[in-house]
Amino acid sequence: MLTNKTIVLGITGGIAAYKAADIASKLTQAGARVEVIMTESATKFIIPLTLRNITGRAVVTDMFELASEFSVEHVALADAADVVAIAPATANTIASLAAGIADDMLGCIVLATRAPIVVAPSMDVNMFENPITQENLSKLKARGFTIVDPAYGRMASGKVGLGRLAETETIIGTIKQMLGRNGDLAGKRITVTAGGTQEPIDPVRHIGNRSSGKMGYAVAEAARDRGAAVSLITTPTCLPEPVGVEVIHVQTVSEMREAVIKATARADALIMAAAVADYKPKSVAKAKIKKDSPSLTLELVRTPDILAEVKGNFIKVGFAAESEDTIDNARRKLQEKQLDLIVANDITSPDSGFGVDTNKVTLIDRDGKVESLPLLTKREVADKILDRVVEFLAKKPPLQRIEFSLWPPSSTERYKRINIPEDVRHLFPEDKVPFLIETDIGTFSVCVKRHENTPSHIHLRRTNWFKAHPELKAGDKVAIEVIEPMKKYRLKVGI
Ligand SMILES: Cc1cc2nc3c(=O)[nH]c(=O)nc-3n(C[C@H](O)[C@H](O)[C@H](O)COP(=O)(O)O)c2cc1C
Repeated sequence: MLTNKTIVLGITGGIAAYKAADIASKLTQAGARVEVIMTESATKFIIPLTLRNITGRAVVTDMFELASEFSVEHVALADAADVVAIAPATANTIASLAAGIADDMLGCIVLATRAPIVVAPSMDVNMFENPITQENLSKLKARGFTIVDPAYGRMASGKVGLGRLAETETIIGTIKQMLGRNGDLAGKRITVTAGGTQEPIDPVRHIGNRSSGKMGYAVAEAARDRGAAVSLITTPTCLPEPVGVEVIHVQTVSEMREAVIKATARADALIMAAAVADYKPKSVAKAKIKKDSPSLTLELVRTPDILAEVKGNFIKVGFAAESEDTIDNARRKLQEKQLDLIVANDITSPDSGFGVDTNKVTLIDRDGKVESLPLLTKREVADKILDRVVEFLAKKPPLQRIEFSLWPPSSTERYKRINIPEDVRHLFPEDKVPFLIETDIGTFSVCVKRHENTPSHIHLRRTNWFKAHPELKAGDKVAIEVIEPMKKYRLKVGI
């Protein structure tokens, strides 16, 4: 995704300036054209020659020197940039950017560019926590700059606190997120599950599986890089949390089920890459099971089939990790679980499936189209899956969707209600005729009510839905989508 992208990397005079070499190197290796601008102070910490060799490009250190093609026209780089990233950013540079000062090349470029600007502060904890620095950072945030918060840890001064430059992966992840913000999934919400569920046997043991989570994490990152708002529901893994993704941690199938139901209430697509246990111990021992007896029998019971159970107006993608009859088994799952797409992989192959960075999969869709892909990296597989999701989303007929404001509670009413204006009343069943409404905490049977002197309204009083959303205030907007007229609707918050 970084190929043909121009990243202007601003390096300023902080102790972490040497880490910019790693950032420049990883961006260059990923295919980006990295144009480095160093402040004069930065050149005291790391020499421009290092960056020149890493990026293969001239490094701009002086606005008035004509060594670089970009020095001739001092704002040319501003136009060329897809993203401007400043890492590390000193307190001094942050202050000067907040004040709009343009007395060096970096200041000019920041003022002149229309590209997103990423700032990764790095400084002594007291400098960082100083209200002046905080105020300057708030100013930049308010102006649309993206701040990559520094990490907590030991500083060069020996102090411990907030101020260390964020990890290279975090900074690059943020740059990718900025690059993808107008991608083909912009404005879409994608829920991804990853990892292998863990079903406890006793307080120290569980039944797990060999899923590393790599495939799901790759899908989450790829969706983020294409502009989607991603919720990643993950079991414990050894992988770093992707930047710019909402990460929801779960362990068991039932926790994952709950999280999926909640997330899909507003999702456009669900991609279930997690390896979900089919069985769990019937009971969990309260204390650690001792090795007293020569054998031990665990009684297992079926877990819920999340993918088959969750339904709604979203694209549903499943994975079929199979060790035999891969395609036939995958086809059967596609039908049984009413999926739009299934990703079948033969886990017996050593370079495909669990743990490794590559995967060889076959995509089978609801129209019967079968596409066998060659051995690819998991990131490449993720993008192939998302290509198909984009196609399906384009075909999806838009749902009839009505926006409502929550009605203020009266002195006698404990819960807010949703008033139905007369012009959309016909989209709902008659008064007191029950219908289903899907929400992020479950599906409820409700009906439209009307009392004397009140407009028609939906009361979710008995469902505890409002209790689950204490953040909602009267006047907040919610939307109701018609899934099946007169029978089934979906309530969406956070619109
Ligand atoms: C050894 C040394 C280390 C420094 N480290 C930092 C630092 O990590 N962060 C910071 O904000 N300033 C640091 N400074 C102060 C900056 O170098 C100084 O404010 C300089 O004017 C920054 O210039 P620039 O923002 O144009 O790069 C350091 C100074 C010295 C002498």
